[in-house]
Amino acid sequence: MTTPLLEVQDLTIAFPTPGGGSAEVVSELGFALPPGGSLGIVGESGSGKSMTSLAVMGLLPKGARLAGRIRLAGEDIAGLPDRRMRAIRGDRIAMVFQDPLSSLNPYYAVGFQIEEAYRAHRPRATRREARRVAVEAMERVHIPDAARRAGHYPHQFSGGMRQRVMIAIALSTEPDLLIADEPTTALDVTVQAQILALLREIRRDTGTGLVLITHDLAVVSEMVDDVVVMRAGRCVEHAPVARLFSDPQHAYTRALLDAVPRLDDEVGELRTVRAAAPDTPREGER
Ligand SMILES: Nc1ncnc2c1ncn2[C@@H]1O[C@H](COP(=O)(O)OP(=O)(O)OP(=O)(O)O)[C@@H](O)[C@H]1O
Ligand SMILES: [Mg+2]
Repeated sequence: MTTPLLEVQDLTIAFPTPGGGSAEVVSELGFALPPGGSLGIVGESGSGKSMTSLAVMGLLPKGARLAGRIRLAGEDIAGLPDRRMRAIRGDRIAMVFQDPLSSLNPYYAVGFQIEEAYRAHRPRATRREARRVAVEAMERVHIPDAARRAGHYPHQFSGGMRQRVMIAIALSTEPDLLIADEPTTALDVTVQAQILALLREIRRDTGTGLVLITHDLAVVSEMVDDVVVMRAGRCVEHAPVARLFSDPQHAYTRALLDAVPRLDDEVGELRTVRAAAPDTPREGER
């Protein structure tokens, strides 16, 4: 078997509590991602999804205690010294967050910010090379008129375009692994679909591994090979995405699946209800 790109074993993350005890927010979590593979981490708010991704990035908040192993291409990176982790983060592992505005500096042109992110990991790169990489990265995420737009500031971009800028930053160093934590939650549905399509295209073209974190099972359905369903810090189900949808094993997974809106169902149901009683609102409707 080839060495997994990312392997998480017995990951446990705890915070100290005021009484002198500690509270586990992630417990004995394990999963593996082959090179170029994709994994969805799904679960309700507070289930420990972001803490898991922050642990992989070496960005856990102060006070968090971590146990277990996190291997990147075979190397244990859990608890690496900060200096070594900084070299990995943004280079071999890149991350895209929910809110692109909070990750972009409002006072600098976006092209410059992509250049700076690139130069942080390629210190020998010239300005000119960094500029070329930045414009190419913007083209790769389909920002129209990239060379000119590189000179524009974050507020001059729509939410979807800002998220494209963040993805361009993430891609500029050609990472082996992209972690996207709710990358489309702040966007409206149409733009969300465009960003997901972009992530699919990038994976296809670059072979980057993807960990996609979301509370929405509908989002992972066409995006990943495998899904980990988390609840209260634990994995309750880990399965290939098709099997998770067709044959969920755990009651919690079924509950999450029931919450996935299906347009065809809704329309069909509405028609039936309307035909039976045209003026009666559906049960639960206000
Ligand atoms: N600094 C902290 N100190 C103590 N507990 C924390 C801290 N940060 C987060 N937590 C707790 O860790 C748990 C897991 O949080 P996490 O952010 O991983 O959830 P999540 O699954 O990403 O949720 P969401 O879908 O809302 O983003 C939560 O119960 C949260 O309250
Ligand atoms: Mg989160």
